[in-house]
Amino acid sequence: MLLKIPDVLTPDELGHVRQVLDTAPWIDGRATAGDLATQAKCNAQLPADGHECRALGDLVLAALARCPAFQSAALPRRILPPLFNRYDTGMAFGLHTDNAIRIVPGSGGTHLRTDVSATLFLSDPNDYDGGELVIEDTYGTHAVKLAAGHLVLYPASSLHRVAPVTRGRRRACVFWAQSLVRDDGERALLYDLDVAIIDLRTRMGDGDGAVQGLVSHYHNLLRRWAEL
Ligand code: NI
Repeated sequence: MLLKIPDVLTPDELGHVRQVLDTAPWIDGRATAGDLATQAKCNAQLPADGHECRALGDLVLAALARCPAFQSAALPRRILPPLFNRYDTGMAFGLHTDNAIRIVPGSGGTHLRTDVSATLFLSDPNDYDGGELVIEDTYGTHAVKLAAGHLVLYPASSLHRVAPVTRGRRRACVFWAQSLVRDDGERALLYDLDVAIIDLRTRMGDGDGAVQGLVSHYHNLLRRWAEL
C-alpha cells in the first residue's frame, strides 16, 4: 500500500526544521547505504549521530505519534531514528531496495526489520525540478512529489529511486519502521477497515451494533496478525 499523508508537520515545525538544516553539517549520503545502494546513491545527509539529526528526528517522531493516519497505516512496533537528506542540482539516488534489516543505533545491537519506508518532504515542490520519489509496486510505477510537511508511506520491499534534481534543492526526512503486522497486504486490509469504521462511527455513533461488531472484528484481526 502506498499512502500519502498530508500535514504531518505544522508550519512552525517545518520552519524550525528548515532553519536547523540550513546551518547543520552535511556528509556524503553513502555513509548509510548498503553495498548495492552505495553505487546508486548521490546525495548529502546529516550525520546520524549528530545532535541536529537526533533533535529533528525526535520532533518528527513526536509528530508521527499524534498522526492517526500514520499509526493506522504503519502500525509501528518500532521506528528507526529518522534521517535527513539533501539532493542538490545533479544529485539522484538510482533504483534500489532498502536493507531488510537494520541495527537500531545506540541499542547495543538490537535488529529491526524494515517493513515500512517513509519519506517526509521538507522542500516546497516549486523550489526544485525533478527529485520525484519513484516507487515501483505491483500496480506499476508511481512518481511522488509532495508539499512540504507531507509524507508518503510505502512497503519497504518496493524498488524505488529518487529522480535527478535538475533545478534547486530537495530536502527530505526518511525513516523505516518495523510494523506489528509484517505483511503489507494484511496491513492494508486493517487500514481500509479502520478508515471505514471511522466513517461509520461518525454517521452511526459508537453505540451502534454494527460499529461495535466491526471494531471487534478489527481487533480480532490485529490479534491474529500482530507480532510483538
Ligand atoms: Ni531507499
